[in-house]
Amino acid sequence: MPFIRALWVPLTLTSLLIATGCGSASSTSTPPGPDGGGATLDGGGTTPNGGGDAAVPLASQGFPAAVAGALTVCANCHGPESTGRVALTVPGDFTEPMRASALQKVNAGTMPKAPFTLSAAQKTALVDWLTSGMPPGDTQVFGPASKTSLFTTTLSCNVDQKLRPQAAWTMPEDKSNEYVCYGVDIPVASKRHLIGMGAKVDNIKIVHHVLLFQSDKSYSTTPVPCEPDESMDWRMIYGWAPGGQSHELPEAAGFPQEGTAHYVVQVHYNNARGLVGETDKTGFDLCTTDKLRANDADMAAFGGVDFNIPARSTHSIQCDMAVPEVLSGLHIIAAFPHMHSVGAAINTYVKRAAGGANVTLANEQRWNFNDQPWFAVDTVLHTNDTVHTECTWANPATTAVAYGPYTEDEMCYTFVTYYPRIVLPNWVWAAPVKLSTCSEK
Ligand code: HEC
Repeated sequence: MPFIRALWVPLTLTSLLIATGCGSASSTSTPPGPDGGGATLDGGGTTPNGGGDAAVPLASQGFPAAVAGALTVCANCHGPESTGRVALTVPGDFTEPMRASALQKVNAGTMPKAPFTLSAAQKTALVDWLTSGMPPGDTQVFGPASKTSLFTTTLSCNVDQKLRPQAAWTMPEDKSNEYVCYGVDIPVASKRHLIGMGAKVDNIKIVHHVLLFQSDKSYSTTPVPCEPDESMDWRMIYGWAPGGQSHELPEAAGFPQEGTAHYVVQVHYNNARGLVGETDKTGFDLCTTDKLRANDADMAAFGGVDFNIPARSTHSIQCDMAVPEVLSGLHIIAAFPHMHSVGAAINTYVKRAAGGANVTLANEQRWNFNDQPWFAVDTVLHTNDTVHTECTWANPATTAVAYGPYTEDEMCYTFVTYYPRIVLPNWVWAAPVKLSTCSEK
């Protein structure tokens, strides 16, 4: 995801605590912009499930289910984002030399490489499929994981706003990584709450992940290359990565829209395979309501950025943030852990100052880049509670990997959706990361 070490605002606990005014970064009274961006405000909402089809197009990616299970293991290193390694995520990747090579390597036990393994059943299914003409199935390698009812592949709420670019993005064939942003302005007559959002991923072959932000000002309505760290100035609303689901907020909160809501969609494209002429119009479907909820929602991140994973090694860190008084009462409703392709496990939980059981925010002990679930949470932070994050990586490469925004870099973040929204002048979504202390584990 798009965040960077170099541009950390010099944020300290002191600068949070001495915060005075209440500059909500998102409530602007800017008059409606000159154009409504690429937004289609189809307020009619004729179909209650309008646009609520699956977040990931399934049709073109058919594998038999057991084979998809095995290939999900391979996708730790052979995903669409894998730089310098062949991708094995769609049936078309298995050209004849690749089929024969995969069969030979799986039979010989040289693939998958450590630390990943296939179960005996997965190995049998994969070998059978590779030797029997590779019959198609209807399962994709990016299987949607439905962990909770809050997160679904379809939105059950009424989609009344659609964020789409004004023109398609054409991915250069000679670029492997590219961050691209476009804006959509949504003027509202009176305050509304955004209560549901789902990604509409258009071209899964090149979309690595996509994030939705709210900015203070309008952004280009046609997609333009952007720096990943531009997002430090925006408020994060929602994120999608392979395996991700749609999100509907609980009754207590919604993301506010006032005056003109300036959304920025940031898509991270990856074209390591050098595909020619791939285009994309990925965006988001939103459900909003004028029946305002009790609280404004927001997102923040826990975790750490100080780590270096040596070559051919496993490596673990732990990061702690003691909850300052100014964050007491923060109600967490969802968590979205995020690492990149050499991630192995991530676990974020709350240790209570008052004692008692720890509260899990997100725990994924078999991290799989291609299946990034949201977790439903319902817990309130109190002063001096500790938010603890542990990340483990297994780096099979011959070079070390450090924190960074690009696919070949790594991350250790658990994003959370919370309410009530913190309105402090120096507040950024990454503030809890900045307030954390990390050590090797
Ligand atoms: C931990 C990482 C990792 C995993 C998991 C993994 N591979 Fe690989 N694979 C590699 C690397 C690195 C190479 C590059 C060449 C080498 O070192 O053999 C490779 C090469 C290959 C090649 C040769 C590609 C070519 O260009 O000829 C095939 C085929 C392959 N892997 C198949 C698989 C299959 C099938 C799985 C799952 C059952 C799998 N791999 C799992 C890391 C991995």
